[in-house]
Amino acid sequence: MSVLKAQGLGKIYSSKGNLVYKALENIDLEVESGEFVGVMGPSGSGKTTLLNLLATIDRPTSGTIEINGVNPTKLSDNKLALFRRRELGFVFQDFNLLDTLSLKENIIIPLVMDGMSPKLIEQRLTPIAEMLQIEAILEKRTYEVSGGQKQRAAIARAIIHKPSLVLADELTGNLDSKAAKDVMDALKEMNETFKATVLMVTHDPFSASYCKRIVFIKDGRFFSEIRRGSNRQAFFQQILDALSVLGGNFDDVPFARA
Ligand SMILES: Nc1ncnc2c1ncn2[C@@H]1O[C@H](COP(=O)(O)OP(=O)(O)O)[C@@H](O)[C@H]1O
Ligand SMILES: [Mg+2]
Repeated sequence: MSVLKAQGLGKIYSSKGNLVYKALENIDLEVESGEFVGVMGPSGSGKTTLLNLLATIDRPTSGTIEINGVNPTKLSDNKLALFRRRELGFVFQDFNLLDTLSLKENIIIPLVMDGMSPKLIEQRLTPIAEMLQIEAILEKRTYEVSGGQKQRAAIARAIIHKPSLVLADELTGNLDSKAAKDVMDALKEMNETFKATVLMVTHDPFSASYCKRIVFIKDGRFFSEIRRGSNRQAFFQQILDALSVLGGNFDDVPFARA
């Protein structure tokens, strides 16, 4: 079953009605339930634009999006807010956790908002927190834990309401290589154990090597696609090869990590 179906997606950024920039053109993307898909491309290739369209944060200039059979661009603002809260989970580069709340409070917000009982909330939280190895720090606040711990809490928040699709943008972008590995291991566990469907945008080959399929975009257009075999190291090399064919500017890519 496909969770996401995007067809002919385009985005033109304009200001005061003047065309300024064609950031995406004619992107088709289908994600099946349980998939773990990466989108890669050089800086400025349109990765964040694509994610924002799929996240229903921004609207496409052309094309259609279907998430779990619903076209979110056709929903009213109220319904869209509810749709986003129920069907989607988000993980951002800068964590987006509320500093005044504990990690636990941050994680359970979507369930509390949906009126779930405290007992059921605990039943949901416990296995996820254990798997992400954050049970011991759930009562701590964001400034008392490391970046990797914050991002694992953000992953818990993104999946606790069992969304149709988890969307992540450069989720290891602010982490050192050890924390990045822990976070990617955690996301992989969520995909495999909880069958979370994940679409992740990254320019980091190491993080991308955890995906099962990678779609490359360049100058806002589809460029190529590769699928992973059983070996992550081999896939990492395949990604580096694909990126060198892709060309473009990867400024801050830490190519040395593997
Ligand atoms: N709000 C905006 N207004 C105008 N141009 C934008 C806007 N957001 C992004 N762009 C441009 O669109 C292109 C794609 O940007 P983005 O999706 O952020 O790329 P990536 O995430 O791959 O680095 C870039 O050239 C960027 O400058
Ligand atoms: Mg980006």
